[in-house]
Amino acid sequence: MEIIVLMGPPGAGKGTVSESITAQGKFKHISTGDLFREAVTSGSEIGKEIAGYMESGSLVPDNVTIKLIENIFDSSNKEAKFMLDGFPRTIGQAEMLENALKERNGIISHVFFLNTKKDVLIQRLTGRRICKDCKAIYHTLFSPSKVDGICDVCGGELYQREDDCLETIENRLNVYNKKTASLVDFYKSKGSFVEVDVNKKPAEICDEINNILKEN
Ligand code: AP5
Repeated sequence: MEIIVLMGPPGAGKGTVSESITAQGKFKHISTGDLFREAVTSGSEIGKEIAGYMESGSLVPDNVTIKLIENIFDSSNKEAKFMLDGFPRTIGQAEMLENALKERNGIISHVFFLNTKKDVLIQRLTGRRICKDCKAIYHTLFSPSKVDGICDVCGGELYQREDDCLETIENRLNVYNKKTASLVDFYKSKGSFVEVDVNKKPAEICDEINNILKEN
């Protein structure tokens, strides 16, 4: 099992980059945020529990998040390659990932840290629109759909995430600084860490990441 971790604050572009790189077919995209949103939409018991955390921009508890990832690993073959988007987000989750990979002879080959300034993050998050059907990501200024409110890819309706309002964004950024930012030092010390400047076009960011992946 081979893992690539994409980490970074809300709005840095993790989903945009994952969408493009995993479309090449080598890595399977796992976004804990997307999986939690599906659980909430399904109305399941666990979805109801998760909804409150997501609406306020807090983290879903580690035990729930860790179980989700372990279930995916358990139902995958040993040669599987994953791009993890938004996981891990706490030191506890990172340690769990190490243990789970040890048990499965898996490795983290790269950790890409996507980062930029707070005002850029807020501008990206407040303008984000997502397709309800295929989950394609747009931005009202930087990558608008051709027809307002309609997905270019599948014709689905575009929507704005509930947690993309200014108040919740502020909380998500605070939670990131308190609970997730320390993972930068955690992964730097492991040697597989690459910081990526995301103040350029998504295609250029993906080229930079693809070139690093090709080298190894
Ligand atoms: P999640 O869905 O993972 O949200 P997030 O981490 O806050 O990240 P985002 O999806 O908001 O941003 P992104 O970096 O993917 O940016 P994107 O590419 O879309 O998590 C949501 C919630 O779920 C959490 O708050 C928590 O409650 C829960 N959760 C999830 N994982 C968890 C975990 N492991 N543990 C506990 N709880 C968890 O881009 C944003 C916008 O910018 C888009 O409009 C895009 O078009 C635009 N854009 C992107 N790149 C560029 C660029 N280079 N130039 C210009 N515009 C760009």
